[in-house]
Amino acid sequence: MKKIYLDQASTSFPKAPGVADAVYHYLSDFAVNVNRGSYDTAYSVEEQVYETREQLCRLFHFPESRNVIFTGNVTASLNILLKGLLRPGDHVLVSSVEHNAVMRPVIQLEKTGVSFDRIPCAPDGSLLLSEAEALIRPETRALVCLHASNVCGTIMPVQELGNFCQRHNLVFILDAAQTAGVLPIHMDELHIDALAFTGHKGLRGPQGIGGFLIQDSLVSQITPLLSGGTGSISHTEEVPDFLPDRFEPGTPNLPGILGLHAALSYLESHPMEDTFAHEMALTQYFLDGLKELDPLEASIRVIGKKDLRERCAVVSIQTLNKDLAEAAYELDAAYGIMTRVGLHCAPHAHKTLGTYPTGTIRFSFGPENTTEELDEALLALKRITGKGELYGI
Ligand code: ALA
Repeated sequence: MKKIYLDQASTSFPKAPGVADAVYHYLSDFAVNVNRGSYDTAYSVEEQVYETREQLCRLFHFPESRNVIFTGNVTASLNILLKGLLRPGDHVLVSSVEHNAVMRPVIQLEKTGVSFDRIPCAPDGSLLLSEAEALIRPETRALVCLHASNVCGTIMPVQELGNFCQRHNLVFILDAAQTAGVLPIHMDELHIDALAFTGHKGLRGPQGIGGFLIQDSLVSQITPLLSGGTGSISHTEEVPDFLPDRFEPGTPNLPGILGLHAALSYLESHPMEDTFAHEMALTQYFLDGLKELDPLEASIRVIGKKDLRERCAVVSIQTLNKDLAEAAYELDAAYGIMTRVGLHCAPHAHKTLGTYPTGTIRFSFGPENTTEELDEALLALKRITGKGELYGI
């Protein structure tokens, strides 16, 4: 059976052209370390690592490549930033649709005396920023927020959030898990103090490589979560105070960085706007198809926004006459349609969207998905929900 991958919000597939080759080439031809060996091959890998930092600076309109820190993923980046920044007595604001990459560190920190409030979102996931003002306290230190919901695709008003943080002197940390490589992000214009990204979603690189970009003004406020060898100032047992070494102990994920380098090179030659337009055309096509299939939403409920405004290429639904896990299983087993079902590591997002505790079936689209694939998914849904003349295969 042909397989159709509609779980791009989880991780992108296929990866950008050149990514697999770059990883393979590094591992098979010259898998040397960086910042340790004093030989040419090591210098050449170091050069590519440096270039990758520069590419990320260009992508996020950020001036300083040494302030680009590599980690394993967005989760690691957010842990470093949140646990390094927040002290007992501090207060932090989050949105009500955060992923557990934000919420679990925040809940851990709550046990140490950090408090938090959720800025409410409407049932379609839109942030009610006007309600944030009342949540500010003298001890509010930071606001951390995702750029787009991984559950319903709603995009947050990031410029307004940045302005709000600037007005209230809050550290602004943006979780760009769903938007890096998908939407333009200008660190300075948006007043972002730290931006956490992952390489394997919209950037179309390998899994296990991500990072964060951090403004100089924030660096000294973050106590490093991890420490160890960096290959630099080896005469001392103190953690380096310079970047990127301060936050990058241990041998980095070099296959991942070189794969990401290839992904970013591809991205630089394929305008993000064109890719986004394609993904949004697919989203519209799918939303239209769902509407045609079930105009009154009697058996398929569409979650979140019903149109393309402030959303990315993620559509969550509930099958009302069939258990969600069963429907998702059938989508895959009988029709080869791969989706994600459940709470998507974001329980409070589902409370906001009115889909807790059952969750949703999430369809998410990428640059190489096609309308023909969506036709297959819609037909499968038609049959699974009993709307088709045939049930099953
Ligand atoms: N956070 C990722 C998702 O939404 C893994 O699927």
